[in-house]
Amino acid sequence: MGRRKWVFLLAIFVFLLSFSSGTVLKLKSDDSRPLYNHTLTMTLVEYASAVYMSDLSELFNWTCKRCNGFTKGFEVIEIIFDVEHCLQAYVGVAKDLNAIIIAFRGTQEHSIQNWVSDLFWKQLDLNYPDMSDAMVHHGFYSAYHNTTVRPAVLGAVKRAKESYGPNINIMVTGHSMGGAMATFCGLDLVVNGGEENVQVMTFGQPRVGNAAFASYYSLLVPKTFRITHDHDIVPHLPPYYNHFPQKTYHHFPTEVWLRDVSSLNHSVEKVCDNTGEDPTCSRSVKGNSISDHLRYFGVELHCETWRQCSIVMSHEMDRFSKKDSKGNLIMSRTVPSTNGNKTESLIENGDL
Ligand SMILES: *[C@@H]1O[C@H](CO)[C@@H](O)[C@H](O)[C@H]1NC(C)=O
Ligand SMILES: *[C@@H]1O[C@H](CO)[C@@H](O)[C@H](O)[C@H]1NC(C)=O
Ligand SMILES: *[C@@H]1O[C@H](CO)[C@@H](O)[C@H](O)[C@H]1NC(C)=O
Ligand SMILES: *[C@@H]1O[C@H](CO)[C@@H](O)[C@H](O)[C@H]1NC(C)=O
Ligand SMILES: *[C@@H]1O[C@H](CO)[C@@H](O)[C@H](O)[C@H]1NC(C)=O
Repeated sequence: MGRRKWVFLLAIFVFLLSFSSGTVLKLKSDDSRPLYNHTLTMTLVEYASAVYMSDLSELFNWTCKRCNGFTKGFEVIEIIFDVEHCLQAYVGVAKDLNAIIIAFRGTQEHSIQNWVSDLFWKQLDLNYPDMSDAMVHHGFYSAYHNTTVRPAVLGAVKRAKESYGPNINIMVTGHSMGGAMATFCGLDLVVNGGEENVQVMTFGQPRVGNAAFASYYSLLVPKTFRITHDHDIVPHLPPYYNHFPQKTYHHFPTEVWLRDVSSLNHSVEKVCDNTGEDPTCSRSVKGNSISDHLRYFGVELHCETWRQCSIVMSHEMDRFSKKDSKGNLIMSRTVPSTNGNKTESLIENGDL
């Protein structure tokens, strides 16, 4: 793929340029940055919430309690439940957005507190392939790249595009650890998949890599918004060390910080600068809240109960499901036939 190569050469060139001038890379001037769209955020937060549902039959049929509101009419084409690593994700098509939606669930370990305190100690311990100086956390990277998740997601995206045509958008979302996975998935789709219409929106995600990684990432996936909520602790982790700019984790742009204003019933959104580490956004407050982590725009971003890695599924769904030898489960359905490539008419008929 020639285009891919070009993107890389460009990325590397811009990157070298930024280092030779001794500054942290400022990618684009503010006026060319993608516009933040509140309506889209309200929709994607619901997709990020639904992936926490543990009744996979209801999730698959999009009849779950959270499968409503702005996401009504969504068609799931694949659910991935990786038992080994306790990961869950789905892929489907939102006709009203003319988009493939990919959503990743956050961690479902014994306790969110333990998971959060572990985040303090995560090392930058993996060189991101083919991007010099870019380092990430191995565990975050592997959750997407070295599990059943990646091949299943890519397979579902391919099937959706065969049915809905190449011009359909791809929107990747996730909360917490799921936001870290969404990051790696969005980048993978651009770099290895050659996709052009990729948007990423994450909620309360931790830092995943260093400044070099953040620079590459935002060049390659510029349509990314990283939503943070008031005192949510997770976006503060793993820590950012001011004094070691070359060694520290570093967020990519563009953060959108939600502040709860007690006199109002809703949060105020602040679109932050293009550094990824805007000191006037979530970094201006102490990250000391887990409850702010679990709820964005009033939408619950956690399982209904904290139980370890369990799911419910009725036997009538067996015909959609397959398990590998380790018990990892994939539910998939044939992408609804669209009688050829109906990309145009999908937009007109968007209000299913
Ligand atoms: C914002 O996103 C919504 C879909 O959620 C879309 O209908 C609308 O046109 C978008 N607005 C802008 C200004 O792009
Ligand atoms: C889900 O849909 C399938 C196929 O349409 C149907 O057989 C099944 O009963 C539905 N299950 C639930 C829980 O809604
Ligand atoms: C991928 O996972 C397998 C086992 O789960 C492990 O042996 C291997 O080292 C991992 N590879 C990477 C690159 O993390
Ligand atoms: C805020 O919400 C509460 C309960 O949902 C409601 O009683 C109150 O009127 C609302 N206040 C404003 C200013 O909207
Ligand atoms: C739909 O699009 C794909 C690739 O974009 C193409 O290979 C296929 O022939 C098209 N199908 C129809 C019915 O036009």
